[in-house]
Amino acid sequence: MRTIAPPYWPRDAGEPRRAAARRPADPWRLYLEALQSGARVPNACRPLDAVYGPLAHADATRPFVVAQLGQSLDGRIATVTGSSHYISGPAALTHLHRLRALVDAVLVGIGTAVADDPQLTVRHCAGESPVRVVLDPSGRLPAALRCLADDGPPVLVIRRAGPGVTACDRIVPVAAGADGRLDPRAIVEALAARGLRRILVEGGAQTVSGFVAAGVVDRLYVTVAPLIIGSGTEGLRLPEIAALTEALRPPTRVHVLADGDVLFDCDLAAARPAALGGDDDDGRRLLAHRPPASLADGDRGDRRDPTRHRDEQRAERAGPEHAV
Ligand SMILES: NC(=O)c1ccc[n+]([C@@H]2O[C@H](COP(=O)([O-])OP(=O)(O)OC[C@H]3O[C@@H](n4cnc5c(N)ncnc54)[C@H](OP(=O)(O)O)[C@@H]3O)[C@@H](O)[C@H]2O)c1
Repeated sequence: MRTIAPPYWPRDAGEPRRAAARRPADPWRLYLEALQSGARVPNACRPLDAVYGPLAHADATRPFVVAQLGQSLDGRIATVTGSSHYISGPAALTHLHRLRALVDAVLVGIGTAVADDPQLTVRHCAGESPVRVVLDPSGRLPAALRCLADDGPPVLVIRRAGPGVTACDRIVPVAAGADGRLDPRAIVEALAARGLRRILVEGGAQTVSGFVAAGVVDRLYVTVAPLIIGSGTEGLRLPEIAALTEALRPPTRVHVLADGDVLFDCDLAAARPAALGGDDDDGRRLLAHRPPASLADGDRGDRRDPTRHRDEQRAERAGPEHAV
């Protein structure tokens, strides 16, 4: 895991010692410190560990890929004009920045890089910014984008291997399949070969869908905000299926965030068919119940929240055979 260094915690800079002592400890900061030092996770950070533990404690010797989408009630991640700022509320934004703080690399597709011009840095919580990666097979990335700024974390651009595309500090050529698409597995391997094993696929729809369809995503975080857009870019789009028995049914934890958005934390690794490296291809196993956990630090937490998902409450009452 990357070192979490004090220069990335600028809010402390110059703060008088007595003021700092009065300020309640930030559970997220305590959590990062425990992860970095290898100390036991403090009790105050247990709700955070329930959400981020699978990523934070992942085997550092092999790739671990998480993906995220912030969507509306009707499953849209942007309007028809590509506007997505902001579908999710501030708590979901903090969650996204926490994910960035825990990974070695954050990856977006060229569509998102152009539409949103994201900085891809950690700003809404303590933590170090990851390496920024843009999936730009044809090399159409405008040079003026903020994520390419030299004064930020390093940037890698994934390009389709071919004449004129030479590997260098910034360019990572990846061989394309017969259809011209890049295999997400090859992208993950190329990043892992550079020591970037914990990867956040942050968007957009095509990129996240491609990674999920390829079976390389271990954890999918979907934040659903209570708004209805009614048109625009759909979130996940996977190959068509005829029967619901073919649908992915990942073990899922549900968290109600402080501002009313709902976070679905889906264990896709457990739902992955054995052919794609999953643990099990027995569909019934995919319904295994995972107890819900709450988020701390500005989050109401679903166990205490009477408005939490009714199905989840029913599942809890019904016992361990039911999915959330
Ligand atoms: N709500 C959210 O959580 C969220 C998050 C991020 C983005 N967004 C929104 O999502 C929209 C962008 O999504 P999008 O689906 O249009 O674009 P995208 O996924 O960001 O980028 C798509 C482009 O990336 C390249 N690409 C992706 N996967 C590839 C693969 N396996 N092989 C080869 N090329 C690949 C292709 O580039 P070429 O066309 O050059 O071949 C493709 O057109 C924006 O409106 C943004 O605001 C929302």
